[in-house]
Amino acid sequence: MNGKYKAFWLDEDENLVVLDQRVLPFEETTVTIQTAKETVDAIENMTVRGAGVIGNVAAFGIYLAARECEGDMGKLQLLAEDIRESRPTAVNLMWAVDRMMKLAHKKKNLKIPNLIKALKNEAILIADEDCERSEKIAEYGADIIEEIMLVKKLDTINILTHCNAGWLAIVDSGTALAPIYEAQKRGIKVHVWVDETRPRNQGANLTAWELGKAGIEHTVIADNTGGHLMQNHMVDMVITGADRVARNGDSANKIGTYLKALAAHDNDIPFYIAIPTSTFDFEILNGVDDIPIEIRHENEVKFIRGLNKEGKVEEVQVVPMDSSALNYGFDVTPARLIRAIITERGDCEPSVEAIEDMFGDLI
Ligand code: MRU
Repeated sequence: MNGKYKAFWLDEDENLVVLDQRVLPFEETTVTIQTAKETVDAIENMTVRGAGVIGNVAAFGIYLAARECEGDMGKLQLLAEDIRESRPTAVNLMWAVDRMMKLAHKKKNLKIPNLIKALKNEAILIADEDCERSEKIAEYGADIIEEIMLVKKLDTINILTHCNAGWLAIVDSGTALAPIYEAQKRGIKVHVWVDETRPRNQGANLTAWELGKAGIEHTVIADNTGGHLMQNHMVDMVITGADRVARNGDSANKIGTYLKALAAHDNDIPFYIAIPTSTFDFEILNGVDDIPIEIRHENEVKFIRGLNKEGKVEEVQVVPMDSSALNYGFDVTPARLIRAIITERGDCEPSVEAIEDMFGDLI
């Protein structure tokens, strides 16, 4: 699968190579992952991030763990638990580890090289399936874009997005950005408002980089700008990804998404969540109450990283020495603020009834 996907691949020694998302857009470098421990580190320290890619890397992490364990299923189980707990909110992580471990248990009597090969192939299969899901989300989402343009008689559509839900986050064209890439292919004129997405700046650093590479017109805005743009008719729709969607349609996404959904609702602007079905957590009935929200290190708020005047990447402190900071990674947008959830099966109304109706076979 060398070079098959854009955000990660296997090298000639069958180790996992990932694009280092911590240093984009200023440097394009890779990190090689050879063990379960290195998998955990890469997910925890956000070398890789974004719900889907975290799941993919975790799946390959189980394959790497199997290489280390040499048939010791007890040890593999422990390493799998470490990977499963490396981040708490994006459910694709748990989904991918559980699927890999189910296969590992089923194949535990195989000779060790065959077990390892089966796990490697399963991780590749998950990534291939994610690619297909992404392509379908692109189609359904672009249909919605076309419809909005038609109804509003637009020449250019202005779409606001938060965080990064492009191919760096979900192979191989993303979720929220997939319909935008597809719209571009269809010859639609799109302009994207990119929320910078403090504290880690996934919008400014990653979404803007992806859109720039694809030649899509975009403007980076400070996180607090969206409401003003919406009031002034400068946003036609909002699309974001999500990290976990409950059975009632409540959706956890990068911190700040909820505020954008509130502003969109107040201004009658349709707000969409785009996800593969692996981002549903059907066990959680009320997302606002029960989706676990990651709290990350306060230094992510206190420091900011960028290019200095000499063209070198530098980290600087932006708060007084003695101030403390609080860093919630995600918030939950209640279903009532979401127009529809765009999935590989089509658009779904965010309600228990509609979700059970459309995804009953997965529950
Ligand atoms: O903390 P991150 O960067 O892993 O955050 C996840 C995200 O990228 C977003 O919440 C995204 O919009 C959904 S993941 C496709």
